Amino acid sequence: MNIRHNFRRRAATFAAALAAGAIALTGCSGSGAGGSGGAGGGSADASDITVGVAMPTQTSERWIADGNAVKEGLEAAGYKVDLQFANDDIPTQTQQIDQMITNGADILVVAAIDGTALSSQLDAAGAANIPVVSYDRLIRDNENVDFYVSFDNYKVGVAQGTALLYGMGLTDRDGKELADRPKGPMNIELFAGSPDDNNANFFFSGAMDTLKPFIDDGTLVVKSGQTAFDTVATLRWSQEAAQKRMEDLITSTYGGGSEKLAGVLSPFDGISRGIITALQGAGYGPSLADGLPVVTGQDAEIASVKLIADGVQQSTIFKDTRKLAAQAVTVVSAIAAGEEPEANDTTTYDNGVKVVPSYLLEVTTIFKDNIQDEIIASGYYTEDEVKSGVAN
Ligand code: BGC
Repeated sequence: MNIRHNFRRRAATFAAALAAGAIALTGCSGSGAGGSGGAGGGSADASDITVGVAMPTQTSERWIADGNAVKEGLEAAGYKVDLQFANDDIPTQTQQIDQMITNGADILVVAAIDGTALSSQLDAAGAANIPVVSYDRLIRDNENVDFYVSFDNYKVGVAQGTALLYGMGLTDRDGKELADRPKGPMNIELFAGSPDDNNANFFFSGAMDTLKPFIDDGTLVVKSGQTAFDTVATLRWSQEAAQKRMEDLITSTYGGGSEKLAGVLSPFDGISRGIITALQGAGYGPSLADGLPVVTGQDAEIASVKLIADGVQQSTIFKDTRKLAAQAVTVVSAIAAGEEPEANDTTTYDNGVKVVPSYLLEVTTIFKDNIQDEIIASGYYTEDEVKSGVAN
């Protein structure tokens, strides 16, 4: 059992008080096995509980959306919330979590900047019996990680690799090889995410496993020869660093822009935009119809969704942050009720010390022709936002 003991005690005390009629629940939608009411958002105990929510940065809109959605969901369930963003700066995040613990947070929800940099904070949380939910990015090398909510990160990589193959005319959208596909050789280049983010490896492995048969049979050629994760990784998912690396590759390997490049694997929309800027600057494109290489992405950031609508970026992976936030609220509510949160994966996410029970959500690949159905119809962005490339 991973749930911290004070929550067991607290839930048991609460359940006893409830049974004795000492506490009236308001707005409780489910009693849960322990009868504590926490899982249903019963305000009687939820308002007693402060959840510290640590998010990595506000420079990428996905994390702003995550932070706000988690806060709103928890507050709607009656919890008090201390939400902090850390500017992608590790010392800022460690201080924020230290402060949450000092201020008496009862549960922590953490999306780490560096998954290996929070050990002393997690030790302190463990010592204070504060349950920790790892949000989207797995916190590594510490036993005090109670639960992990994320998307299926390997499948994100498979979806990125498949989108790249599809964009280059090698497979259909589902990754099935086309009989009349080009035989190549076609040049591609590879970008991976931040090496300190556990997800980056999953994305890269999923994508590389998907591309591998086409690299092995000579259809695809990574002309720079740069294929190792450490070589193609992008620290802190930096758009600027990605742009610089793409510019360097164009100079070193593509004759400054005179040689053909069919596609670039990109793990994140910010990185994609850096890559596209470098490519356009060297004379490729400016759009897919004029020979801009196929560039993938992730997160459905509004600026990239506009580029996809405009026929510039080829695809992105839509991770509905509303669903992930709702899952985090469900997990917090289970923990607050003294229950074991429901997991749908109990084998994949070994953080170096233990396998962390996880709940993984599915993702959707976005191309120009399903922006309307997947993004606009679901209310993630409005049509005007997609047109302007700015989210209101
Ligand atoms: C997330 C991705 C995101 C990346 C950069 C990863 O941990 O899973 O959705 O693109 O961080 O923020």
